[in-house]
Amino acid sequence: MAEIIVSAENLTKHYRKINALNNFHMEVHRGDVYGFVGKNGAGKTTLLRILTGRSRQTSGKIELFGKSDRNDLDIQRGRIGSIIETPAFYPGMTAKDNLEVLRLQMDISGKGCISDALKMVGLEEVSSKKVKDFSLGMKQRLGLAMALFGNRELLVLDEPVNGLDPEGIVGFREILKKLNVEFGVTILISSHFLGELSQIATCYGFIHAGKMMEEISAKELQEKSESYLVIRVDNAKKAAAILEKALPEYRIEIITEMKLHVHNFSGETGLIMKTLINADITVKELKAYNDGLENYYMATIKKITN
Ligand SMILES: Nc1ncnc2c1ncn2[C@@H]1O[C@H](COP(=O)(O)OP(=O)(O)OP(=O)(O)O)[C@@H](O)[C@H]1O
Ligand SMILES: [Mg+2]
Repeated sequence: MAEIIVSAENLTKHYRKINALNNFHMEVHRGDVYGFVGKNGAGKTTLLRILTGRSRQTSGKIELFGKSDRNDLDIQRGRIGSIIETPAFYPGMTAKDNLEVLRLQMDISGKGCISDALKMVGLEEVSSKKVKDFSLGMKQRLGLAMALFGNRELLVLDEPVNGLDPEGIVGFREILKKLNVEFGVTILISSHFLGELSQIATCYGFIHAGKMMEEISAKELQEKSESYLVIRVDNAKKAAAILEKALPEYRIEIITEMKLHVHNFSGETGLIMKTLINADITVKELKAYNDGLENYYMATIKKITN
């Protein structure tokens, strides 16, 4: 298992009457694209602000790159880039010059890092354009370039695709994928929608009411949220035997005398229907269910809050 670079243990954060985080746990491993999913007010921003040093927890422990002392944490935060609030730019300056200001502030020698950063986020062609003339998507990419500046190993992004159009979301996702796969950047990214992250996340953490409900790998989640077919027939046992013989790639589960489920099902309802009808089985209902990623999340919340 890869090194744990972020961990939170028993973290709480109280605002006057509100417990924004409540015995919260989390573990992010190096190389992850960690999808941090939760509804409005779940506590995502609160946690990300604590990790990046913008706010302090009421109690509990955080560890960054294996270090947990207060002074050490500040040093380790130098390895983390983040976009939590809207990134601040000089709108009257070009993308290139915005990065130059940052380079001077950070005292990084050599200007090569500027074109490298612009290339990483696909902005090299508009590097001489003023930021006030940028689209929202271009601004988000510039924010990403700024967050990454100085060879950051971990990127913390709080709902970075909010407000982007579908094309912008796809483009942004592609950049994140590249940063992760080609440059080895670990990414912690929050969102309301699991679906939005499903193309890139390698694991997920579900937060609800300030608590971590579940941490799960993308693979496990995929397996748990598979789609299946529900078939109501006059004779489930006979129908199951026929389907098992004709279509051995599917896993058949008899639910009642008149109902069965077809798992590992790839969407070919026509073939299943035909097979059953040819065998003189009366099909009363045939319906595909996909517990889907969103449903899985909702079900998880329900299970735990009930
Ligand atoms: N500065 C603050 N003062 C008081 N309460 C706060 C403050 N910041 C957050 N909260 C409360 O803490 C809870 C968690 O808020 P947080 O912003 O972390 O949620 P979130 O998951 O980021 O939500 P969203 O998806 O809407 O951004 C909410 O009930 C919120 O009202
Ligand atoms: Mg938030």
